[in-house]
Amino acid sequence: MSRCEINFGKMKWKNPVTVASGTFGLEYAELFDLSQLGALTTKTITPLPKTGNEPQRIVETEAGLLNSIGLQNPGIEEFIRSELPEYRKFATNLIVSISASSIQEFVKMVKKLDTRPGIDAYEINVSCPNVENEGIAFGTDPDIVFKLTQQLRKSTQKTLIIKLTPNVTSIADIAKHAEKAGADGLALINTLYGMAVDVNTRKPKLHNIIGGYSGPAIKPIALQSVYKVAQAVSIPILAMGGIASTNDALEFIIAGATAVAAGTYNFINPLGTLDIIQGIQYYCIDNNVEYKNLVGSIQT
Ligand SMILES: Cc1cc2nc3c(=O)[nH]c(=O)nc-3n(C[C@H](O)[C@H](O)[C@H](O)COP(=O)(O)O)c2cc1C
Repeated sequence: MSRCEINFGKMKWKNPVTVASGTFGLEYAELFDLSQLGALTTKTITPLPKTGNEPQRIVETEAGLLNSIGLQNPGIEEFIRSELPEYRKFATNLIVSISASSIQEFVKMVKKLDTRPGIDAYEINVSCPNVENEGIAFGTDPDIVFKLTQQLRKSTQKTLIIKLTPNVTSIADIAKHAEKAGADGLALINTLYGMAVDVNTRKPKLHNIIGGYSGPAIKPIALQSVYKVAQAVSIPILAMGGIASTNDALEFIIAGATAVAAGTYNFINPLGTLDIIQGIQYYCIDNNVEYKNLVGSIQT
């Protein structure tokens, strides 16, 4: 067995590295064989197509990226018709990220996707507004996260990963609710709220004014979230937030992550995930440690 194979829910990964939802598409297949990744994660798919927000939708800041893409995607029908068959060509796990505006819609999506072959897991993006709860994001309310996870658990046997938002008081509490309701794993963190202002025009740089902040600046925030959640739950964690090197990935693994994802880093180095896969393997060999013993091995 390779030193870095993992089990994540019902999935077996050949290595512990994937890509963060929305930062990586099938066009990367022109650069490398995507089967080399431990898993592929799609951008978030919604029940209906979304054109996303108006530009400017991306702003670079000193140490991170602001985006307000607004979940642009072709919708579930078109995803199933044109993208799913393409994703299935790669010999790796496929995690489909989904979002909806009510629990019922989420359930309908999972049931529909479950009728199609080739999907290994669902990543539930709970950072979106819940129309049944005054538009407050699903992921900020522990009881809603519990109910949503419970309903989804009843609807699918596949690996269910709840992707947590950091924009909450206690991410560990939300994580515990997802675990109790039957989630197989957790992904964290989604973006933090951020903003930038053009001092010449005195206008916000993003058309949407406020966006999601990602990249190197958020790494320490993501790391402490992963550490706290790992202390609170026993289901596996897929960590993301500013990972841009092997060393970054190792920090998350030592803090308690079973798997890691590169997000914003894909825009800087589209082949960076391959370096990270190899780097983790070398670290395990050099330090004579089995990967599973590295996970959560932090010495406090
Ligand atoms: C341009 C862009 C688009 C994103 N789209 C999604 C998305 O569709 N669904 C989702 O769950 N997260 C989305 N995210 C959040 C990332 O998946 C990830 O959680 C976050 O960026 C933190 O990781 P990073 O710092 O490595 O980018 C997006 C991030 C960026 C930068």
